[in-house]
Amino acid sequence: MTGHGYAPEVALPRLLLGAAGSGALSLHEHEAVHGEMPAVSGGSRRGHAALIDEVELAGLRGRGGAGFPTAVKLRTVVGARGRPVVVVNAAEGEPGSLKDRTLLESAPHLVLDGAVAAAQAVGAHEVIVCVCERTPNVQRCVAQAIGERGSRTDGRVSWRTTEVPAHYVASQESALVSFLNGGEAKPTFTPLRPAERGVGGRPTLVSNAETYGHLALIARHGPEWFRTVGTQSEPGSVLITLSGPVQHPGVYEAEHGSPLSSLMDAAGGSTEDVRAVLIGGYAGAWVDARHLHALALCGEGLAPYGTRLGAGMVTLLPASACGLAETARVTRWMADESAGQCGPCVHGLDALATTLEQTLTGYAKSDHAARLAYLSSVVARRGACSHPDGAARLVASALEVFAGELADHARHGPCAACSRAGSLPVNRYGSARRGADGQSASAGTRPRGRAAVTAARAIGINSMSWRRSAPGAS
Ligand SMILES: Cc1cc2nc3c(=O)[nH]c(=O)nc-3n(C[C@H](O)[C@H](O)[C@H](O)COP(=O)(O)O)c2cc1C
Ligand code: SF4
Repeated sequence: MTGHGYAPEVALPRLLLGAAGSGALSLHEHEAVHGEMPAVSGGSRRGHAALIDEVELAGLRGRGGAGFPTAVKLRTVVGARGRPVVVVNAAEGEPGSLKDRTLLESAPHLVLDGAVAAAQAVGAHEVIVCVCERTPNVQRCVAQAIGERGSRTDGRVSWRTTEVPAHYVASQESALVSFLNGGEAKPTFTPLRPAERGVGGRPTLVSNAETYGHLALIARHGPEWFRTVGTQSEPGSVLITLSGPVQHPGVYEAEHGSPLSSLMDAAGGSTEDVRAVLIGGYAGAWVDARHLHALALCGEGLAPYGTRLGAGMVTLLPASACGLAETARVTRWMADESAGQCGPCVHGLDALATTLEQTLTGYAKSDHAARLAYLSSVVARRGACSHPDGAARLVASALEVFAGELADHARHGPCAACSRAGSLPVNRYGSARRGADGQSASAGTRPRGRAAVTAARAIGINSMSWRRSAPGAS
């Protein structure tokens, strides 16, 4: 079924192969780099098990944050009633993440190939590409790529692109489906998942843009090739947005399981002392810098430190910054980004942010740490989506990693670095209810916040290759 004859010789990059950072690969250039996309045979929904089997053998997990096995989702869609729809989630709501944007601005056809393969595998005739309303260049690249393809490569698949509101929770999958169904871009409480009942009530495959890129490569080169990099439980490569005090912040394609120190070396090393690293984005967790050399970029390597790779954000905090003030700013932003539907999310995140802010001023009660720990525990798993869980994880990790700073602030008030807080980007496009200047703004009149993405200072397209020694090798 799939054409496994051609495989690039270099281990990495895979997704970013041929991408020079100077613009999107045209269809012609893309095919010169990756070869033509093999047809996923057949036309009936029953005939496409082969690609799904290969995705399962490859062990592909979604790159949108939760790491859900892609083959399981594909099978759920195939098993549900109705003609499926395929949705490419390229909205990238995380303020500091640039990986989906980078992928679509450099290799849009790889993502579209994967979406077509998925559509053919589940029997869908419609692919919807969801892009953030505030990323016009991504919209342009996607529109141009779709225009180039015509019907030449995509058989019966028709394309639609949609601009998603620039809110953090708008790119959660049920929020996307609600938006595509004409409603608000807010997570919904419907018991059936989008894979069973989504756009127009039809089974809907919502996957991350990077996931489709990997799927296109599996369709071309097969599961064994896919597994030649990465770990047993997390095969393949992953896009990482590395930001903070390193020589070359940017988007890197790394092998799952590579040491974080190799990624930092590939980025030219740190430019100042590092206090901590936030792994997995704002729904991730802080890890103390003393563990930097022990961290590996995969679930198993990160689990002992209470975090996971999520959507691939790795953010270094310079020692000159205040981790507590940064956490307070991000938590306030998370609270402001709540879709305002679930009590524990609305009140709990606000209480977490307020308590952190009070702690910074030194006016917190003596039991501030206990109160933060209590609030973190009660908001987790209490929302219609996992937004509060992410905020709770972030705060709980800050309590551990910045315990000394917490006690100091409670005793002495703000530190010198508090007023300089701003290492972590929050107002990428202006927050939902708070503008870039921190003033309240209604969703309709949101000011266009200046993109404050640290990694964008010197965004580069990079890859790093790191190989484990073969068992027994010295
Ligand atoms: C608050 C919130 C925001 C999310 N934002 C994104 C996003 O920007 N992009 C994305 O692909 N997935 C995002 N997700 C995850 C999606 O709900 C969904 O799991 C994902 O698109 C599935 O793709 P995957 O299986 O390829 O990982 C978000 C989830 C939550 C709870
Ligand atoms: S948990 Fe928060 S973000 Fe998620 S649906 Fe409820 S209110 Fe909205």
